[in-house]
Amino acid sequence: MVEKKVKCPQCGNIITSVGSPGEVTLVSCPECGKKGKVTFKKVVVSDDVAIEAINLKKVYDDLVAVNSISFSVKKGEVFAFLGPNGAGKTTTVEMIESIRQPTAGSIKLLGEDISSSFDKLKEKIGILPQEYHSFERITVRETLEFFSKLYKKRANIDGIIGSMDLKDQENKLYMNLSGGLKQRVGVAIALVNDPEIVFLDEPTTGLDPKARREVWDVIASLRNKGKTVFLTTHYMEEAEYLADHIAIIHKGNIIAEGSLAELINKYGKENILHIKNCTTKDVVDILNEREYNASVGQNGDIQIKIDNKDRVLEVLSILRHECAEYDSIDIRRSNLEEVFLHLTGSKLMEES
Ligand SMILES: Nc1ncnc2c1ncn2[C@@H]1O[C@H](COP(=O)(O)OP(=O)(O)OP(=O)(O)O)[C@@H](O)[C@H]1O
Ligand SMILES: [Mg+2]
Repeated sequence: MVEKKVKCPQCGNIITSVGSPGEVTLVSCPECGKKGKVTFKKVVVSDDVAIEAINLKKVYDDLVAVNSISFSVKKGEVFAFLGPNGAGKTTTVEMIESIRQPTAGSIKLLGEDISSSFDKLKEKIGILPQEYHSFERITVRETLEFFSKLYKKRANIDGIIGSMDLKDQENKLYMNLSGGLKQRVGVAIALVNDPEIVFLDEPTTGLDPKARREVWDVIASLRNKGKTVFLTTHYMEEAEYLADHIAIIHKGNIIAEGSLAELINKYGKENILHIKNCTTKDVVDILNEREYNASVGQNGDIQIKIDNKDRVLEVLSILRHECAEYDSIDIRRSNLEEVFLHLTGSKLMEES
């Protein structure tokens, strides 16, 4: 229900009336008795928003696990919810999935409130819970067939097996799969109802780098199919590689959000060019005379702050002109780890 205040056209009295969005109701002024219609505006939900959380809060006893956070996820994007252990990622994602009850706040999926429309909405979402397990003694194909029967809308199982690259595994028992393959089956389970939104809670935790990459490819392919992906992770590389939009959650609060480039521009350090073992004298002075920000780091490297990529070519040409002798040059890009360090004073991986 929404509240609307209108001014009586006859006596100027302010009348407060309550109604549902889209409703037209007849009211009479309590002062002069004039009757009139009040139209309650329809709530206009932007068509391109897949998930909207407003003032979402979860309190466990005396712990505020999620502290009145608000965010929205656009349709078709990979949204990474990045944060260390205990930040509140699973609590948030499971409130959106209707598994946990929020202490306060509201959630909309595809423009509809989950508190009133979840039976309908559950057909449109797919879920890979954190540390999920499936039935040990049935095959991959049987697993997918089993889960697909839980939904009215069913994706083609052969199609999922093909797109998840599980053809060689379809007749293997779940218990005989490697960790990476089990995670791939987990993502496949989340797709059995051909969902519009896919929730993946830490899909690559505990996997080796090769298996992690394979799961990343699967997630990237979901975006290519137009699905919205809500990904929780504590791996900054995962967010950097996959996400269109990143929200950093720390102790139940979203402390920053934006695209990777926006976060790095706002909170990261400059890119630094490192020259190793330079034996030519005065290179630092020469660079600084030309208004480069050059210094010698603790390890003896010459370090030059690079604010645009043309500067790299300019530095190389100066080194060449001065016939500088050195072992190697590399550029260290600013990354999400630095963003996290800047915002919290500690490293993401240390907190995890
Ligand atoms: N059911 C619960 N009862 C009490 N406290 C809980 C419960 N679930 C989570 N917590 C606490 O709430 C906080 C947030 O937990 P949550 O699992 O949401 O974090 P997370 O970001 O998903 O962490 P992880 O990366 O370890 O999965 C933690 O301090 C956790 O111990
Ligand atoms: Mg978690």
